[in-house]
Amino acid sequence: LRIVVLAGGDSAEREISLQSGATATEALKSRGHEVVQVDPASEDLATRDWSDCDVAFIALHGTYGEDGGVQRLLEELEVPYTGSDSSASRLAFSKSAAKERFLLSGVDTPAYVLIHETDDATSIHQKANSIGYPLVVKPDAQGSSLGVTIVRSPEDLPQALARCFHYDCFGLMEQAIEGTEWTMGIANGEPLPLIQIESEREFYDYDAKYVDDETRFLFEFDLESPTIGQIEQLALASFDSLGVSGIARADIRLDRFGKPWILEVNTIPGFTSHSLIPMAAEQQGIELGEFFERTVRAALQ
Ligand code: DAL
Ligand code: MG
Repeated sequence: LRIVVLAGGDSAEREISLQSGATATEALKSRGHEVVQVDPASEDLATRDWSDCDVAFIALHGTYGEDGGVQRLLEELEVPYTGSDSSASRLAFSKSAAKERFLLSGVDTPAYVLIHETDDATSIHQKANSIGYPLVVKPDAQGSSLGVTIVRSPEDLPQALARCFHYDCFGLMEQAIEGTEWTMGIANGEPLPLIQIESEREFYDYDAKYVDDETRFLFEFDLESPTIGQIEQLALASFDSLGVSGIARADIRLDRFGKPWILEVNTIPGFTSHSLIPMAAEQQGIELGEFFERTVRAALQ
């Protein structure tokens, strides 16, 4: 197949996307495909000649790549592409929109309020009190934990808000779930192995994701199997409720009472050497080239 891997872009996750794109390019080439990597930051996709392309593999994270923008353009250009369609992408990438959908579908997600950069101090404090401390401040639409802070007391709010609104004019204050961190992927309708993440940091933040080699990833758990089953069910329900396709990954926290909560679904999860989806595929015994090829073939069906 002739495959265009889209990677880079100008989102805050550009560097991660370039790494994800390189992994996908190399893996697909190893299967004998003709692969070119294209960066939307340096080439206009709307005017590009797509006659050299059977399918686009989207490895763009964040705004434009993961929020349905590039998907809509490819739909208009009638270029087949991997992963979720434009509406599922848009829904998943806005944390507030996704959470509303989770609540409607009975998928447990931590309580939240929407905040805006023009909110005055009184309204911010009222909103914070309605959630209670500790709470998490996060941009509505952003990835890789950029702009995310756990806030334990009101004095720490201003700094957390500044970080959040650096990335998006909308944000969330979300009830902090103090417990363990989990993730589960899906690839073309098939669940991938559940992973527990253990980080020395306060949570699985940007450095724990991409820099720190101390983060541990567990595939065997010291937990009763009903709980494991509940986490897996919750992840699958979150994928269903958003209508994702191709590869996606649900991020979950288990509270200290053993109840799982969905934080978000990533429709273009990272494929870097530090990333969870490649680890899960490897754990399942699927070679990465074959893994990505299945997704490409699914996009062509
Ligand atoms: N947003 C990053 C790439 C992830 O979810 O893996
Ligand atoms: Mg994300």
